[in-house]
Amino acid sequence: MNTHDFPRAPLGFLPTPIIELTALSKHLSGPRLLMKRDDQTGLAFGGNKTRKLEFLIGEAIQQGCDTVVTGGAAQSNHCRQTAAAAVKYGLECHLALGGEPQADYQGNLLLDDLLNAKIHWEGNLRKGEGMFLLMEKLKTEGKKPYFIPYGGSNPTGSLGYVEAVRELRDQLEEQQISLTHSVFASSSGGTHAGLLVGARIYKQLYRTIGIGIDKRAPGEDPFDEHIRNIANQTLINLKQNPDLTPEDVILYNDYMGEGYGIVGDPEREAIRLLAGLEGIFLDPVYTGRAMAGMIDLIRKGVFSKDDTVLFWHTGGGPALFAYAEEVLLV
Ligand SMILES: Cc1ncc(COP(=O)(O)O)c(C=O)c1O
Repeated sequence: MNTHDFPRAPLGFLPTPIIELTALSKHLSGPRLLMKRDDQTGLAFGGNKTRKLEFLIGEAIQQGCDTVVTGGAAQSNHCRQTAAAAVKYGLECHLALGGEPQADYQGNLLLDDLLNAKIHWEGNLRKGEGMFLLMEKLKTEGKKPYFIPYGGSNPTGSLGYVEAVRELRDQLEEQQISLTHSVFASSSGGTHAGLLVGARIYKQLYRTIGIGIDKRAPGEDPFDEHIRNIANQTLINLKQNPDLTPEDVILYNDYMGEGYGIVGDPEREAIRLLAGLEGIFLDPVYTGRAMAGMIDLIRKGVFSKDDTVLFWHTGGGPALFAYAEEVLLV
């Protein structure tokens, strides 16, 4: 079996381009740097969730659901893209968002509202903990809700990134690029799991490196284990051997600073470098942090001059507006 055997609801503008980050590479005296522009996937300002949602919404439609339920932080990119995908396929969208009702709608929250998402505020729970109650409530109201976990990270969503590896493989072959490393933000694990499974299935030899964004909550399973579980279940769904080992999950957890969504100097530097050298906007929570991690790894000499390192720009741009003050701090 491969990804084409699963229901899929088209949403993305694919394939996304690969660009050279020549000025950044020169500035850092680093390896050849490439960027895969998954911020340009085309659904409601783009981002990595487009690829996952093609398979999640495909499954929702196949199951005859009329509503989707998901959740996340108030500035969740995943929620914004889910709301847009729901609009496109005529589904009602309910979001369990962390925080209190806000007076000022900015960034992703503004877009959620424009997309007619029904917002349920969850106080200090920001990982969509309220989704389960919401599912039950909607069922009692006669709706047929489809459950999308935090970040869209489950074996169905991760198929999007298995397929992304096939897309990347074709581009690398066409453009005669020999990649040594692929680097990206890893937060709820679905992107990481899909990239690992894709590399396994399509026999890609480069190293797949996640930069951890978010600490695990007390009681949650360790993040590398969580990623491996999603990945192995994805392999099972694809009728492959679930043989990914702990060593296969490469995760740098040193870049979480003061915590999730707290913008520090490394994120500010990364955002300004990419804007000033390449004309590219990163986001303050995910890609800014992952890029800061990659820059640090370059400075520490983890990559050699002969390496070719590809950074997945996984989107998140709309959050920049909600974090303006933190990003502007000098
Ligand atoms: C912009 C952006 N990049 C990266 C990620 C991390 O992807 P994943 O949750 O699949 O680990 C997210 C997750 O919400 C995101 O919004």
